[in-house]
Amino acid sequence: MALVAVTELLEKAERGKYAIGAFNANNMEIVQAIVKAAELENAPVIMQASQGAIKYAGLEYITGIVRIAAENVDVPVALHLDHGTDFEQIVKCIRSGFTSVMYDGSQLPLEENIAMTNKVLEIARPIGVSVEAELGKIGGTEDDVHVDEKDALYTNPEEARHFVEKTGVESIAIAIGTAHGQYKGEPQLDFDRLVAIKKLVNIPIVLHGSSGVPDEAITKAISLGVCKINIDTNIREAFVGRMRQEMEKNPNEIDPRKLLGPAREATTEIIREKIRLFGSSGMA
Ligand code: G3H
Ligand code: 13P
Ligand code: ZN
Repeated sequence: MALVAVTELLEKAERGKYAIGAFNANNMEIVQAIVKAAELENAPVIMQASQGAIKYAGLEYITGIVRIAAENVDVPVALHLDHGTDFEQIVKCIRSGFTSVMYDGSQLPLEENIAMTNKVLEIARPIGVSVEAELGKIGGTEDDVHVDEKDALYTNPEEARHFVEKTGVESIAIAIGTAHGQYKGEPQLDFDRLVAIKKLVNIPIVLHGSSGVPDEAITKAISLGVCKINIDTNIREAFVGRMRQEMEKNPNEIDPRKLLGPAREATTEIIREKIRLFGSSGMA
């Protein structure tokens, strides 16, 4: 089917107490793995491309490959810009066919983040494109967060209420202890903060940096209002890990399909596992 927007998918997930997997795609094989997993699980799915992915593959290639992949399956597939920070690029993505965009103004002072998010909403909303915002700083796993820094970096519930009131944004990514990349130890999520935020903002909550978060913590986060879960690192591990295995097994192999095919299968498997964990299996 044609690409769908994210708002409706998230509203349905929120009512059903499950989460939609948002999986980062960087090449054709990963796009195919994501739609295949969604089809086998009969699940709605969000395919997302970062600015880095667009730089690597090219905007028209990303949109083209994802559109064709979606048209070949009967489950809802959305195409979302992940961590968009540049207004011009956001406009280009929308024009090229993205059905959802994230405006990441988390590095800006609160009022500037609100103003920029509103600027994006102004162009996206009239044409049915969904908008995700970010409040708080979700860094990378290399940035150790000390207890005394938590209040400065994690999402402040009162600020989240103010932000949502002033923007009317459709979903919000929050910082509660997750980080992008491979964790050194086990991430500790601040569930009290999630509960406090959810009490004050009545919109779907997005969890970034979800690779490596223990299954029980993911399930708990969903029960407390998270309904979009971003996964990239686990995909990279599965894809490159399997490719590496194949290369070690057959060091003289020169046919890329013999390496990329198994990598695509391993990626499909990890995405199926995530879809089941998130409770979105059978929800297409
Ligand atoms: O949130 C970040 C995603 O993992 C995308 O990473 O910018 O390296 O594509 P990237
Ligand atoms: P991970 O790479 O930790 O899975 O995070 C993905 C993400 O948040 C993309 O926006
Ligand atoms: Zn992210």
